[in-house]
Amino acid sequence: MTFKNKTAIITGATSGIGRSVAQALHQSGSNLILNGRDATRGKELKELGPQVIFEQGDVKEPQLNQRLVDKAMENFGQLDSVVLAAGQLGIGRLDQLSIEDWQDTIATNLSAVFYLLKHAIPALQKQSGSVVIIGSVAALHAFPEHPAYTASKGALPALVKQLARDYGPSVRINMISPAQVLTPLLKDSVRAFEHPETILQETADGLPMKRLGLPQDITNMVLYLLSDKAGWITGSNMVVDGGFLST
Ligand SMILES: NC(=O)c1ccc[n+]([C@@H]2O[C@H](COP(=O)([O-])OP(=O)(O)OC[C@H]3O[C@@H](n4cnc5c(N)ncnc54)[C@H](OP(=O)(O)O)[C@@H]3O)[C@@H](O)[C@H]2O)c1
Repeated sequence: MTFKNKTAIITGATSGIGRSVAQALHQSGSNLILNGRDATRGKELKELGPQVIFEQGDVKEPQLNQRLVDKAMENFGQLDSVVLAAGQLGIGRLDQLSIEDWQDTIATNLSAVFYLLKHAIPALQKQSGSVVIIGSVAALHAFPEHPAYTASKGALPALVKQLARDYGPSVRINMISPAQVLTPLLKDSVRAFEHPETILQETADGLPMKRLGLPQDITNMVLYLLSDKAGWITGSNMVVDGGFLST
């Protein structure tokens, strides 16, 4: 799949799934506007090449999202793809969760999708563009003490269907729901256990595919959904889970 002469925005590009998508789209020839909060990891991304722009900032801020679209238009004159991979866990049983953690998690995982797409969709419409949101199997399955995460991810399939209806045929909008993928976020989710490595191994052993996901497993689906090969796919939630939801 080639993305030569295309331009993509990727949030959450400084780590894990977003970084894997950024590397793959770069190798496939796309111009990139990348976002994350960590300036050091952002600087490393800029070293990928001249067609890579890193815009540091917090996706919870509406102005940052506007800036990402402006950067794409100013530097490359068009926007073809948007991948929303920024996300946070916000773990905590509902009665113990702070109001701030609830609001932060909803803002990062859900409201930021609105902020970015609000600005990106007019540009995407000119290009028959495509959007991929990284959701989670937490939209479909409860995990212990993840109420803010499950609620924020659970709203995404409804939003994706709504946007597919409102913006087809000029923009395709899909999401991916991964299960456990080996990234810093997954490691954080088991940090509170006495033996986190054992928990991860048990999780892997319990999956039909007998291993945790790798960022590349999700990237493969992102590239497919962004490409013309997925030209009749919109409003979908693609589960990429090593069989987790079958267990
Ligand atoms: N790993 C899994 O098992 C799993 C499973 C299902 C779904 N997911 C979803 O996959 C997506 C990517 O997660 P990951 O596993 O790749 O985690 P990760 O390695 O921890 O990466 C998270 C990324 O999100 C960025 N980010 C978080 N909050 C942000 C904010 N407020 N503003 C800007 N950037 C922000 C981080 O950037 P900085 O650190 O630079 O701020 C980082 O680049 C998330 O939406 C997550 O919910 C992951």
